Amino acid sequence: MQDSTLNLLPPDIDLETKIVLKQLARSHRALAELKGFADTMPNKNILINAITINEAKDSSEIENIITTHDELFKAMSQFNYNNPAAKEVVNYRTALWKGYELVKANKIMTTNMIIEIQQDIEKNRAGIRKLPGTVLQNQTTGEVVYTPPSGEQEILELMSNLEKYLNDDYDAVDPLVKLAVVHYQFESIHPFYDGNGRTGRIINVLYLVLKELLDSPILYLSKYIIRNKTAYYRLLQEVRTKKGWEEWVLFILDGIEQTAEETLLLVKKINAVVDKTAENIKESLPRVYSKELVELLFYEFYTKTAYIETGLSVSRKTAAGYLTALEDAGFLTSQKIGKERIYLNKRLFDVVQEAGS
Ligand SMILES: Nc1ncnc2c1ncn2[C@@H]1O[C@H](COP(=O)(O)OP(=O)(O)O)[C@@H](O)[C@H]1O
Ligand SMILES: [Mg+2]
Repeated sequence: MQDSTLNLLPPDIDLETKIVLKQLARSHRALAELKGFADTMPNKNILINAITINEAKDSSEIENIITTHDELFKAMSQFNYNNPAAKEVVNYRTALWKGYELVKANKIMTTNMIIEIQQDIEKNRAGIRKLPGTVLQNQTTGEVVYTPPSGEQEILELMSNLEKYLNDDYDAVDPLVKLAVVHYQFESIHPFYDGNGRTGRIINVLYLVLKELLDSPILYLSKYIIRNKTAYYRLLQEVRTKKGWEEWVLFILDGIEQTAEETLLLVKKINAVVDKTAENIKESLPRVYSKELVELLFYEFYTKTAYIETGLSVSRKTAAGYLTALEDAGFLTSQKIGKERIYLNKRLFDVVQEAGS
């Protein structure tokens, strides 16, 4: 069953049905609560970094790129670490950060930005598809369910229509409903040879930031999609085959509600572990403690002498002394890799790992 014409946006149907409006209220409430709490956190980068590790891992897992937190830690801290899946996940996180910075700075989302994001994920410059042959298959049977538009010109036109829909709110439709439309449309345009799923899921969070429903990129649907993978593929397809917009929109809105609630719990947990660690360091190592030091310890899973040296503007010797003291007191565990010593923040690692499994 194939239908290869993809309509331009907006969909010619009233998307804000009664049941959608009801769910919208719940999704907005959960999202606003998450935003409100996250806005009060003193160091948002800690939060974003920790949460995007799990998103990078989950979003890649949907595409069968599977890795563990341990492998990720190694790939992040060792430049030459050779694990292709872990590297791809680290690339995904870089792409996400880049996209976030672009949207924050420009207050607009363009096709070129989307191309840049995909290039960062794939680490190649292929850009928009130029050759026909890309098809979408049923995940289990392998049956071809949809052939996306194949000419470069047609793809570019559809992307420019999408770009307008993303940035101009000419239709006054709720942004969360529009997010569902955008995700369907982007995946159906399928503008790249590969990376469409992951790029599309990055667009989702950037859209929330663009519409100021979130300040930091911390709400991700990937975990929800993994839990409901069959429905995700089926509903994407049924927008096309059955005009199943309402069910698709509800699926995304429900995901936003559930995920906002889960993320709020995680944000609170990360907040608590940072505070608790700060308190413990202050007690047991008062001469080492500073607020800035704690922030550096939580910036990533791991730290190095050089990061402390620059971050605190202290000598290398002082920085090394701090880290040794922190390790002796049980706050960090170190490992020598080549000539370098890497210090793992196990408390942070455990919270993120637990949330991500
Ligand atoms: N029937 C469909 N209609 C529209 N989009 C689909 C359909 N089936 C799958 N997709 C989208 O295509 C993505 C996979 O595309 P792909 O380019 O391989 O992404 P990635 O490299 O990130 O794996 C899925 O995650 C999903 O978002
Ligand atoms: Mg793929």
